[in-house]
Amino acid sequence: MKKHLIFLGPPGAGKGTYASRVEKRLGHKQIATGDILREEVKKETELGKKAQKYMEAGDLVPDKIMINILEKKLEEVEGGYILDGFPRTIEQAKALDKIADIDLVVNLNVPEKVIIQRLSSRIICKECGEVFNKLTLPPKEEGVCDECGGELYQREDDRPEAIRNRLKVYEKQTAPVIDHYKKQGVLENVSCKKADVPPEQIVDKIVKIIK
Ligand code: AP5
Repeated sequence: MKKHLIFLGPPGAGKGTYASRVEKRLGHKQIATGDILREEVKKETELGKKAQKYMEAGDLVPDKIMINILEKKLEEVEGGYILDGFPRTIEQAKALDKIADIDLVVNLNVPEKVIIQRLSSRIICKECGEVFNKLTLPPKEEGVCDECGGELYQREDDRPEAIRNRLKVYEKQTAPVIDHYKKQGVLENVSCKKADVPPEQIVDKIVKIIK
């Protein structure tokens, strides 16, 4: 079984949704850099204050900060892991080459129309970070997390202008990372062309590739 994984893909491709489900099934620890940053913003730490303005606009937080965060996280983790949201630039990918031995990169292909629809209806738990969707994956009770009973909210960067910027930033700065891993021979593409493919169906495909 592959142990050191990356889930790549544009904003809203489903990286977080699938990573948390794969963690439950196979035990790989999900390391989501976006979640780490949002936690720092919530706690109003120095790092959170620095990151907030980039995140709300849909821009990337500077590489130096992100590489530092990831290095620390990888020191703590034992066994398999899934990087969700890292690397996002060639510089981050090169830094990662020096500290990790990545077995598999799952590249999620999702059409822009589906992404915009998903992001504008996404809701997230304030307490545990579980992700839902008003249209495609609603919670059992409106506004309440199925996992922990926490309150559900909409992310600041899921506003239309921030979504548009995140997609531009992805094309310019993150899409080149796909080629970096293609050259290393570890890239596998997983496509989800329609909005209504059940997540478990995609997770089954990913689990097969990992095994
Ligand atoms: P981050 O939190 O990583 O955001 P992102 O990459 O834009 O990805 P998202 O979380 O928006 O989407 P996702 O692919 O996880 O999709 P999800 O599973 O939620 O980063 C946020 C910000 O932090 C960045 O903009 C940047 O500022 C900063 N940052 C983070 N990492 C950084 C780094 N390395 N370098 C620099 N800056 C960094 O799914 C989306 C929706 O679709 C959900 O509602 C879900 O329920 C639904 N859905 C998914 N799949 C399905 C399906 N099959 N069927 C139905 N609904 C589905």
